Amino acid sequence: MAKIKSKWVCQNCGYETAAYLGRCPECNQFGTFVEEVTSVVKKNESAKPSVLISEGGQISKIKEIKLDEKTRFKTGIEELDRVLGGGFVQGSLTLLAGDPGIGKSTLVLQTTKNICNISFNDEKLKILYVCAEESPTQVKLRAKRLNIEPETLYLTNETCIDEVINQIDSIKPDFLIVDSIQSVYCANIASSSGSVSQIRECTNVIMRIAKQKNITTVVIGHVTKEGNIAGPKVLEHMVDCVINFEGDKYKQYRILRCIKNRFGAISEVGVFKMEDDGLIEVNSPSQMLLEQNTDASGSAVVATLEGSRIFLHEIQALVGSTNYTNPRRVAVGLDYSRLLQILAVLEKKVGLNLSKQDVYVNVAGGIDIIEPSYDLALALAIISSIRDIPIKNTTIIIGELGLLGEIRYVDNIERRLKEAQKLGFTRAIIPKVSDKIYSKISKLGMEIKQVNKITEAIIQGLKQD
Ligand code: TYD
Ligand code: MG
Repeated sequence: MAKIKSKWVCQNCGYETAAYLGRCPECNQFGTFVEEVTSVVKKNESAKPSVLISEGGQISKIKEIKLDEKTRFKTGIEELDRVLGGGFVQGSLTLLAGDPGIGKSTLVLQTTKNICNISFNDEKLKILYVCAEESPTQVKLRAKRLNIEPETLYLTNETCIDEVINQIDSIKPDFLIVDSIQSVYCANIASSSGSVSQIRECTNVIMRIAKQKNITTVVIGHVTKEGNIAGPKVLEHMVDCVINFEGDKYKQYRILRCIKNRFGAISEVGVFKMEDDGLIEVNSPSQMLLEQNTDASGSAVVATLEGSRIFLHEIQALVGSTNYTNPRRVAVGLDYSRLLQILAVLEKKVGLNLSKQDVYVNVAGGIDIIEPSYDLALALAIISSIRDIPIKNTTIIIGELGLLGEIRYVDNIERRLKEAQKLGFTRAIIPKVSDKIYSKISKLGMEIKQVNKITEAIIQGLKQD
């Protein structure tokens, strides 16, 4: 007798249970459980592995496994190639995630222009674009706007993944684009498309096809309002690369960040600008980030390291007396708990009383900072706002702030200062460095102030001529 299997799945993190729960024990979200009828299993049907790992199930010695050099296809978009570690690896599965409207479809469509021009084994590469979200006409309109018309780009509006496989068999593409994974469905899963079970099964099927037929695949995935890819744990471990398209969709700048890469480094980032005719690469992001850097109080500039590149960011702070019983702390573009920690250090080690003050901090330019070298710049921006004394806009501030008020060393000081000097910075406040590093950075012709403690940094930062 056929038996219907159902389970309750958290739509935020993919946690499964047999019965409804109000709060997910994994991600602590409320009301995220949805019942999903997964499959109709016939009695005595043998269980099949959901992922085909090895077709023959052979055992081999590691020494005997031959390594064939992986072919990489360059997309011709340098910022994307860098994030991918030199282009798409043949037969790999990449997940491109981001908020709706950020520009994912635009980016993949732009890559098709160059990919369709690549010849492999004397034939132009063929791309099958599954436009499950939009109609082929809409994609054509976008292509017209981007001024591209790749000859070997095939569009399909099929949303059933099993049918897509038949189309793959007839067209035999080298590239497959699925836009988006939330809009395709697998016929033998009863739950609606976009649910965790569907996403998991569709990705499974796509991965099997990619590996078996050596098709380089890009899957587009929307993120939830919490910033997670729907069913993130499920998807992230299945694919070879995960790249995130971040930024504010109401602003022009976008940042592409690699968060998983089985074939390269994960710390690389790419910067784009959304224009009327598509995404334009930004080759010198620091210049763009500092376009409006002024001498006003509450602003400090830091040099951070993102992958192999240096970014200069302006950190802004606004401190003012509060109208609330609990003063407000707002952090945009940097870590909220880090802000609280820095405020605590300033209260204890500098003797400030911030209990009646609201504190707002923001990274101008709209790109989030992840590494901790911004601590000192943030602390000085806050002090600058409180005292209403500006920090000169030709001063670069680098350093991590410890809980004891000490300024800690950060890597690659020399490279950070070089970039700052190129952009016209003449003064640097940095942690104590070794004599070897000092002899190198002193050649840059900048006024360098090494500081050990937050109190020294404040004196140097707010010093006027
Ligand atoms: P889109 O790629 O459709 O986003 P996603 O696939 O991530 O949902 O792009 C969405 C936005 O980009 C849309 O608001 C229009 C804007 N856009 C431009 O500004 N210029 C362009 O050339 C294109 C194609 C889109
Ligand atoms: Mg889209």
